[in-house]
Amino acid sequence: MVSTLPHIPQIADSSRRYLEADGSASPNQRLLPLSAQVNQHDHLEIGGCDVWELTQEFGSPLYILDEVTLRTACQQYCQAFEQYYSGESLVMYASKAWNCLAVCAIANQEGLAIDVVSGGELLTALRAGVSPNNIYFHGNNKSYSELKQGVDAGCRIVVDNWHELKTLTELTGAETLVTILLRLTPGIECHTHEYIKTGHIDSKFGFDPDQLEDVFAHVAQQPGLNCVGLHAHIGSQIFELQPHRDLSGVLVQWMEKAKQYGLPISELDVGGGLGIRYTETDDPPSISDWARVVCEHMVSACQAADVPLPRLICEPGRSLIGSACITVYTVGGQKTVPGIRTYAAVDGGMSDNPRPITYQSIYRVLAANKMSAPLSETVTLAGKHCESGDVIIHDAQLPILESGDIVAIPATGAYNYSMASNYNRVPRPAAVLVHDSQASLIVERETDIDLMRYDRLPGHLNG
Ligand code: LLP
Repeated sequence: MVSTLPHIPQIADSSRRYLEADGSASPNQRLLPLSAQVNQHDHLEIGGCDVWELTQEFGSPLYILDEVTLRTACQQYCQAFEQYYSGESLVMYASKAWNCLAVCAIANQEGLAIDVVSGGELLTALRAGVSPNNIYFHGNNKSYSELKQGVDAGCRIVVDNWHELKTLTELTGAETLVTILLRLTPGIECHTHEYIKTGHIDSKFGFDPDQLEDVFAHVAQQPGLNCVGLHAHIGSQIFELQPHRDLSGVLVQWMEKAKQYGLPISELDVGGGLGIRYTETDDPPSISDWARVVCEHMVSACQAADVPLPRLICEPGRSLIGSACITVYTVGGQKTVPGIRTYAAVDGGMSDNPRPITYQSIYRVLAANKMSAPLSETVTLAGKHCESGDVIIHDAQLPILESGDIVAIPATGAYNYSMASNYNRVPRPAAVLVHDSQASLIVERETDIDLMRYDRLPGHLNG
């Protein structure tokens, strides 16, 4: 007699192990969104939606954004600043991580202000219903028209350099007032990828400390510039807390100096930078621990200088949205190079996730339609682009894959959609927001028509 074995979920050695390992309540310390689970079909489910079914309905590749995770991260930042800072505070979403209408609207609903770095991001935040008072316009080379757009909209402008300062001086005057913050280079090093460090002296961002007193003197003379704050940002994907401790002291010291020039600085913006977990070896502090350190050190720096607490601002991006999203792909062909490796190719790659090729970022992958299948193969997940470097993950542990299988890459909410391109004329994927078993399209998939929308064929080439 043939007996059927009861179904035994293979947790330790299957894609389910990534879910089991996700214990933290702080989204940035998890690999997967808070709502991730496995359903009765052995499929990955996010926000109550079956990931495989989502690809059938919305196509592949697909960004799947979990609303609960994004909202929870926003709430954790706001609650921690309330709890640990007795002065006024403001949490801002650095929307460069993922700027689109729906994401700006969610952050805004959660009470966050929005940090934008271009006219396009500014317009999106405004169209999402964000009040200009709650928009801070950053960037190291805002054009004349972008600065005018910011002044006309009435948002706060974070001035990066002399060129911007001069343009703003021209655009404003006794009649037109703009509220500004000054970005300074704090001279603080941190451990992260070279391309995403910003606080060291040899950085393209911000006023050099040597220039600051001249800047203060200039700004104090301008009737149209209402300078209320100072800003600094150390870098991104940072796990250490020490740079953030040091930053409070630097900002408070410059606040005092600015006051000597008659600038009534009442806001200090410490930037963003808290890292997230891309693999199980990444160990960032929780949102709450990061906020506690930032708040406590601002309080002690102010006590040491015997000055009142400023309005404390922070502007995280990655740690708000990174872990809220997975990207799913469909497996196509496979190639085995005997004795070397097996490649499994998927229907996206560096055009929807340029982070591996740009920063050598390491990701994990789950077999979304066979979550309990044993991870019996070592496979290199290759993108579909014409570059050997277009590899999403080297030597990933996966079950035996067949074409049509769906694989999910966690922690792809930050700097993925926002850095996506049309390389090889590949249309950018759609994005859906999932919540309570409902999926809403928040970004449509690009079409072939979109790809050629801006092409023009001069008459002599036609025919
Ligand atoms: N504020 C300023 C002035 C920034 O330049 C940034 C990020 C942030 C806040 C937000 O930092 P976060 O909390 O996200 O670390 N494309 C790179 C990251 C570039 C970060 C740019 N600036 C990546 O994919 O890793």
